[in-house]
Amino acid sequence: MLAYRHAFHAGNHADVLKHLVFAEVLRHMAAKDKPFTVVDTHAGAGGYSLESRYAQKNAEAATGIERLWTRDDLPPALARYVALVREFNGGGPLEQYPGSPAIAHLQLRPTDPLHCFELHPTDERILRAYLGARGPHGKVAHSDGFAALAHELPPPSRRGVVLIDPPYELKADYARTLAAVREALTRFATGVVLVWVPQLATVDSRELPRRLLNAAASATGATKGALHARLTVTETDARGFGLAGSSMVVINPPHGLADTLREVLPYLVKVLGQFAGASHLLDVK
Ligand SMILES: C[S@@+](CC[C@H](N)C(=O)[O-])C[C@H]1O[C@@H](n2cnc3c(N)ncnc32)[C@H](O)[C@@H]1O
Repeated sequence: MLAYRHAFHAGNHADVLKHLVFAEVLRHMAAKDKPFTVVDTHAGAGGYSLESRYAQKNAEAATGIERLWTRDDLPPALARYVALVREFNGGGPLEQYPGSPAIAHLQLRPTDPLHCFELHPTDERILRAYLGARGPHGKVAHSDGFAALAHELPPPSRRGVVLIDPPYELKADYARTLAAVREALTRFATGVVLVWVPQLATVDSRELPRRLLNAAASATGATKGALHARLTVTETDARGFGLAGSSMVVINPPHGLADTLREVLPYLVKVLGQFAGASHLLDVK
C-alpha cells in the first residue's frame, strides 16, 4: 500500500532545492553534443496542479516556488529554474508545478533517453501520458526504481544522470538508497548521481548524506568528487516531527555546480527561511 503522494508537497522548499540542482546538472550535461541518459528512480506523476485539493491541503508551494515566482533579484541559476516552471505553465500564472520528469523533459534534447520508474499506479499512469511525446526516448515503468537501477547502468552513451528521490516513508528507503548508490557507482563510476534526503530528527536522515559521501569516496572507479548541499528553513515541532529542510547529495557534480550553490544557497536561506535559525551547508569533497 503506497500512502505517499507527491501532489501534497509539490513546489515546496524541498522541491525548489531538488529541482534547482537537478536542472543545473541537466543544463551542464546538455551543453555537450553527445547524448546522455537520465534515470529517475522515483519519478512521481511528472507534474502537479497547485489548485488540486492535494496541493491546497497544506499549501506547501507557499513555502517554496511561490516565494520565488515574482522576485526580480534571483541569482542566474534560480532565474533559469523559475523560467522552467514558467514554461511548464505556458507562460501564464503559477497553476502547475513540474515534477522531476518534467524538469528533465523540458531540458533534454529529443534523443536524450529519459527512463522513469514509479510504483503508484495513478501517478505512473499520469506520467506515462505526459512522457508519451518522447516516443522511444521516454520510458515509464511501473516497477521498483531501486531494483531497476542496476539494469540501467551503464547507459549506452556512457553519459548519464541518476536521480534517486524516494519518499523515505519506509525506514528501509535509507539503506536501499545507500545500497543503490554503491551499486550504481560500481557499474558506472563516472555517472552523475543525485540523491534527495529529508532533514528530519532521526539518525537515518542525519547520517545518510555523510554515508553517501563516504560511498563516493570509497568507490573503486573513477569518481570525481561529491558535494552535499543542505537548506534548513524551519524547526521541527516540539515532538521532533516535521521537515526542517532537505539535502541534495551530488556525486560527480559537474564543474561549476559548487560555485552556483555558493551563490544560490544564501539567497534561498533569505527568501525561504521561516525562522531566525534558517541556514545552509555546502560540503564539497
Ligand atoms: C518524492 S516522490 C518523487 C517526486 C519526483 N521525483 C519529483 O521530484 O517530482 C517519490 C515517489 O516514489 C514513488 N515510490 C515509492 N517507492 C518506490 C519504489 N520503490 N520505486 C519506484 N517508485 C517508488 C512514490 O509513489 C512517489 O511518487
